[in-house]
Amino acid sequence: MLICIFWRTFAAYMVYTHNWQSALLSLLEKRMFKQVLFVADSFFSARSFRLSYPVFTINADEVHKSIDTVQDIWSFLHDNDATRSTLLVAVGGGVVTDLAGFAAATFKRGIPYITVPTTLLAMVDASTGGKTGFNFRGVKNEIGCFYSPVETFIDVSFLSTLPREQLLSGFAEMLKTAVVADTVLLYELIDAFENTAIWSADCERLIQRAVEIKQAVVEADPRDTGLRHILNFGHTAGHAIEALSIEKGAVLPHGYAVMQGMVAAMYLSVLTQGLPSDILHLFSRLLLEYYGRPVCRCSDFDRLIELIRSDKKNHSALNPLFVLLRKAGEPVIGVEVSEAQIREALEYLYSL
Ligand SMILES: NC(=O)c1ccc[n+]([C@@H]2O[C@H](COP(=O)([O-])OP(=O)(O)OC[C@H]3O[C@@H](n4cnc5c(N)ncnc54)[C@H](O)[C@@H]3O)[C@@H](O)[C@H]2O)c1
Repeated sequence: MLICIFWRTFAAYMVYTHNWQSALLSLLEKRMFKQVLFVADSFFSARSFRLSYPVFTINADEVHKSIDTVQDIWSFLHDNDATRSTLLVAVGGGVVTDLAGFAAATFKRGIPYITVPTTLLAMVDASTGGKTGFNFRGVKNEIGCFYSPVETFIDVSFLSTLPREQLLSGFAEMLKTAVVADTVLLYELIDAFENTAIWSADCERLIQRAVEIKQAVVEADPRDTGLRHILNFGHTAGHAIEALSIEKGAVLPHGYAVMQGMVAAMYLSVLTQGLPSDILHLFSRLLLEYYGRPVCRCSDFDRLIELIRSDKKNHSALNPLFVLLRKAGEPVIGVEVSEAQIREALEYLYSL
């Protein structure tokens, strides 16, 4: 029983479907809700939905991932007389699902919601783990809570309209999951990526595997206090690189920054953990071929190191803490890395 409650709290039920609207109708036949309301990415017009429920649309970007948009969703719920028997359906990428999840968690102390992720990143990452929230005073995801959807419908047909940049961004997160936890998946992903297209017939199986891995890690550490840190591989430097790109007004998609962060973390892993260098060279090649040469001025290194130091996972350590690898599939969490070593890794990254 306890396990059941635990599961319901932190891990959503994943439904893989090629028709998410039919899947929703099946759910509505099984479970009674007083009302259904939609929050959707403005990329989709209400007319693109076969189901006719009230829809509130959101411009999905980091500027709109704010308390103002949360208030707009609360107003939409309030104006439609939503109660705890209302089902909120969030259709969109991670911005929409994080915002709608937070609004659902807090409206009348919690109403049920389901997510329909429409980007690859949202399918493989944001859809699992129950993290919801929004940006506050320039800090990403500063306010939020853990609150899982009742169900998540993964429908890969959404990927057919997704821009290549967004696909690559999500793909980087899949590579990250695989490199820390499943080397078979890692080489399957690279093979699928280099020889076909990520949205090919096999992509649903690869997405499913990446989600299963994340679910297993989340179940073992739902509050993100230990094991779940392995999913931050590439994110210590990656978040700093993303933040610097925002400061400079040339915003890098999240997965692009994570890809650079993974190369930096692999360099540090070769330096300090004995990681064989072939995997570093493989990721360096993928970065250059698909994501583009990383650009950074030497004068930016100081700012990057400052941003790495301010990572919220660093707590009280003297030096920044990284997730590194002993080998593919064998991560080590909480490794203190000196400033000189970080500089060396950045020099490698930006000399590629
Ligand atoms: N909760 C979590 O665990 C978690 C995990 C990872 C990321 N996130 C959050 O997710 C957000 C990033 O999400 P994202 O990468 O999904 O991007 P996003 O939600 O910002 O969407 C990216 C762009 O893709 C468009 N779009 C969405 N679906 C589309 C489709 N099917 N076809 C064409 N265009 C489409 C959107 O309109 C937007 O312009 C960040 O705010 C991040 O903090 C949350």
